[in-house]
Amino acid sequence: MKIAVPRERRAYERRVAVTPDTVKKYIGLGFDVVVESGAGLESQVSDELYAIAGAAIEADITKVYQEADVVLKVQRPLVAAEGELDELALIPRGALLLSVLSPFNAPESVLAYAAAGVTAMALEFVPRISRAQSMDVLSSQSNLAGYRAVLDAAYEYDRAMPMMMTAAGTVAPAKVMVLGAGVAGLQAIATAKRLGAIVSATDVRPAAKEQVESLGGRFVMVGSEETREAETAGGYAKEMSDDFKRRQAELVAATIKTQDIVICTALIPGRKAPILVNDEMVASMRPGSIVVDLAVEQGGNCSASKSGEVVNVGGVKVLGHFNVPSRLAADASALYAKNLLNYLTPLVKTDEAGVASLALNFDDEILAAATLTHDGRVVHSAFSVQPAEQS
Ligand code: NAI
Repeated sequence: MKIAVPRERRAYERRVAVTPDTVKKYIGLGFDVVVESGAGLESQVSDELYAIAGAAIEADITKVYQEADVVLKVQRPLVAAEGELDELALIPRGALLLSVLSPFNAPESVLAYAAAGVTAMALEFVPRISRAQSMDVLSSQSNLAGYRAVLDAAYEYDRAMPMMMTAAGTVAPAKVMVLGAGVAGLQAIATAKRLGAIVSATDVRPAAKEQVESLGGRFVMVGSEETREAETAGGYAKEMSDDFKRRQAELVAATIKTQDIVICTALIPGRKAPILVNDEMVASMRPGSIVVDLAVEQGGNCSASKSGEVVNVGGVKVLGHFNVPSRLAADASALYAKNLLNYLTPLVKTDEAGVASLALNFDDEILAAATLTHDGRVVHSAFSVQPAEQS
């Protein structure tokens, strides 16, 4: 069985889906691994290191995909309309595609996987159960994004983060507010604290309070009965009522004008990110303040953020860096590659001769949640249209 690992071609993407370490493990399971030449360069992995681990290095992308049984990617394959290359057309029918597929951002891609006969599994849909913790790409990547968001803010900030008492005078500590205290937000709190900032945070899930406080942050939240129901069984936030949003806007508006740095991380799965920082709030911040919008790819938490840009709004810099985990490509790839290995390993049977085959049990809770298409059909309940029904 062959695993194909192409170079990622989407803009802002520097990560790669395997490391030399995971290549060795796949070979141990009985796979042949073919890595496209240069696939790991931006994650500091040379072709030579992959070759030493046992991978075949292939410069011709058509040959990388040829006869692949499993395709490992970081981002969904390009299709013809997207320019450079139709990667999906190169994936053999029947192959297993493992990647972050962002199907809510590109619902048409789900039909395309079904039509191409690809078994597409979206790793970001893996449920957050204990058995799947080591497969959790959202956690591994969000954690790094939260860390990097604070460093990006510190870099753009014209002042110091910690309090410094010097002979020449005292430097005040930066005040950092984190909106959304999930995986990225908690790491942002921890990083800002380590840098010496005074940190506060808010969330709609009351469970976040204890976590924020355990990291030394101050938790502020709208007091509302509604927050009791704010968390889904999966641990995610729900969309809140208009009344809650109004009260939350008042709370954020009152707090934000005293802050130097705001890190936005609030997301609602499958929906546009909630706007928590409007233009008026940005205008209320003092010049030199920073807003980092980690939610920019889902529409943004800040009305002023622009995807992939650092914009200056009346002296306030709003950072909308795209694909923040990729800004730490070496570590992000290493953790992502490990998540993939942990996902794929239980799906592999290796016989006595050391030959690998796939044993996909679609009744398994993890596979059932992650599988979008199989056998020419859309099988995920969130995407019910079939290729034949397409108008
Ligand atoms: P996420 O990336 O979907 O959202 C980020 C944060 O934004 C969440 O904390 C969410 O509550 C918050 N948020 C959403 N709307 C908001 C609003 N209007 N105002 C303020 N905050 C808002 O979430 P993430 O980081 O993926 O984590 C979701 C949950 O999953 C957390 O409870 C986390 O502890 C839990 N989790 C569980 C794991 C496990 O059991 N294996 C692994 C990782 C996370």
